[in-house]
Order: sequence, then structure tokens, then C-alpha cells
Amino acid sequence: MNLFDVYPLNNIEITKASGSTVWDAAGQEYLDLYGGHAVISIGHTHPHYVKRLTEQLNKVGFYSNSVLMPLQVQLAEKLGQVSGKTDYQLFLCNSGAEANENALKLASFYNGRKKVIAFKGAFHGRTSLAVSATDNPKIIAPVNETDNIIFLPHNDEAALETAFASYGNEIAAVIIEGIQGVGGIKEASISFLQKIRLLCDQYNAVYIADSVQCGYGRTGLFYSHDYSGVEADVYTMAKGMGNGFPIAGISIAPKFKPWHGMLGTTFGGNHLACAAGLAVLEIMEQDNLMQNAEEVGTYLITELKKIEEVKEVRGRGLMIGIELPETLPNVKKDLLFKHKIFTGEAKPNVIRLLPALNLTKAQADQFLNEFKIALKG
Ligand SMILES: Cc1ncc(COP(=O)(O)O)c(C=O)c1O
Repeated sequence: MNLFDVYPLNNIEITKASGSTVWDAAGQEYLDLYGGHAVISIGHTHPHYVKRLTEQLNKVGFYSNSVLMPLQVQLAEKLGQVSGKTDYQLFLCNSGAEANENALKLASFYNGRKKVIAFKGAFHGRTSLAVSATDNPKIIAPVNETDNIIFLPHNDEAALETAFASYGNEIAAVIIEGIQGVGGIKEASISFLQKIRLLCDQYNAVYIADSVQCGYGRTGLFYSHDYSGVEADVYTMAKGMGNGFPIAGISIAPKFKPWHGMLGTTFGGNHLACAAGLAVLEIMEQDNLMQNAEEVGTYLITELKKIEEVKEVRGRGLMIGIELPETLPNVKKDLLFKHKIFTGEAKPNVIRLLPALNLTKAQADQFLNEFKIALKG
């Protein structure tokens, strides 16, 4: 049997990893500023994480959501505390798309409506409703097509007001990334998020903050949307939540009342996933990783802005987009193959940095030095 060939692959096999360093099969070392797509939050093979998962696996790895699971309760408590949303409720699932799918469904159950506002450049995942709310027609199959999603220009308050004025009573939810990731590191403005909050309150629509990539402490606050000073009704999260173990969740405001069977999943919130989730939050708290993300991120952004060849630097904390001119199309490839540094990318020519939240200043400097050399070709 062959693999279904949907991924363009780099010809590198990673066989060992520690912190923000990975090694390939030949023993070559790399600096990892990509974290397997913003997933590695506390660093590869963190000792506390390995210990907690190993211990849990030796006790019980999985049982379904039909029995008591104190680990889920502990995770909810810890997440409430670290994210500052102690009165919110947690539903656990397995991936970012699933988190958004559940959030949208929850919104529709809540107000009985069908229409969803999403924005140009958005990426919310590949399951049916999440992909419909994603601004990329290429990955929307005919069966996913729906008139229920309305795409509006990003950060356009007037367009948002007009949409609500025209059909506000039909809108179930507004879904927005705090910082668009796949869309090229584009931040939602503070006043735009405040406007979403205002209009959702006015029309009883649900404000869903997609924090799958920009959340979990990456920008210095637990949810990047919270820089706006207003709260969302539902926060969706995934990537950094399990440091590589598949776990996702939605944090749900108290006004939503659950009923048995409303949402559900087989694998979501299993024992191993919760152990991974707890290990991540424990390290984030113990090692002040949000503060580190903010400090090292601000340092990187400041230094990157000084580089002449760079067109624009966007983002916050350790979610950084470096826009390069078309005349420098090979920098990402050169960083990987010549300078041994993993980074992410976005179209047309944006380098995305999504490293572990405990990246050190020395590692940031290593990147800056190599990046400057790479820019010279
Ligand atoms: C903002 C955002 N939402 C949702 C998703 C989908 O997450 P997953 O691939 O875990 O389904 C992604 C993945 O890149 C994302 O960046």
C-alpha cells in the first residue's frame, strides 16, 4: 500500500528532538523555529512531559467518556486558571478543525441560527463547516459548499456593521483568528475585535475566537484575542495544547447551558491526552513561558524590523511573519538546507516563526545571524 500523497515533503527524517533542537537520521542538528506547525509549545521531549505521559500510560491510557475522569476536571481547572477564564466550561476534542466545528455547532444550537461570518484570509480547518469558513476555494469540496458562510474583508468595521444591519438576526456566529496564521500572520485589530463583541451582544450572535494557532500563550497572553480587552464567547484551541499529543478543546462562556448528547467524541479528553495537556500547562506556569514568549518574541520582532531587506515584520510574541520581497524567493529553503533552521511559510513570500515558547535569546540570536547571511544569498 502507498501513502496517499497529499503532502509536499522535505527530504529530511527527524529521529531525535530536544527543546528547540531536532536531529535528522544522519545526526545533523537543526534549530526548530517551526515547532511542527506551532505544535511544540514547551519544547520537544520535555522531561516533565515525558515522565507524566509515561506514568499515565503505565496506569491507564484510554477509556471513553462514559466514566468519571478526574484528569479532565484537573485540566479544566488548570486551564481556567492559566487562561484567566475560571468561569468558562471546557469541552475536549482532538484537533483544531474539530474544535471549530464544535464551536460553530454550539453557537447554532444556542441561538437557533444558521449564518456564520468569517473573514478573508481565514483558515479554520478541513472538516465540513470549518473548511466552509476557510477562505480557500481549492480545499472546499462540492459537498462542503454552503450559503451559510459569509466572508467579509478582514479588519473592515464598516463592512461588519453593514452585514449586521442587513441580516444580523440570522447570524449564529462570527469566527475570527486573533492573528491569521495560514493567511500570513495578519493580526485582527483591537477595535475590530471590540466591534465584533459589540455587534454580537447587540444581535445575540456568538463570538468565536479561533485560538488554534495564535493561542495557548504564544503571543504573551493566553489568548491573543484578549489584547482587545473584550472576551469571546467561545475560544477554540489545539496545536500547543498537548505539545504534540493530539488534544484540542473549546472554552465556553457560562451563558451556554449543556445538555447530554449536545456534543460528543470517542477519543476527546482521554487519559493520555489529559496527562499531556496538564504537563504542558504545568511547565508553562512553572517556567513562565508566556512571559518568555513575549520577551524573546519582542526582541526578535525589534531586531527583524532593523533588517533592510525585510519588507514587513508582523505578529506578536513568538508568532512572527517576516514578509520578504519577490526578489528573495529562496530564503526559507536556504534556511533549512544551508543554515539548518526549520521555519514555516505563508504565501506569497512570508517566513513564519512558530517556535516553542521557551526559545532562548541565544537561539533567537543564532537565527538572526543565520537569517542575515541567508538574505545575502
Ligand atoms: C487558526 C487555525 N484554525 C484551525 C486549524 C485546524 O487545525 P487542525 O489541523 O488541528 O485541524 C488550524 C491549522 O493550521 C489553524 O491554523
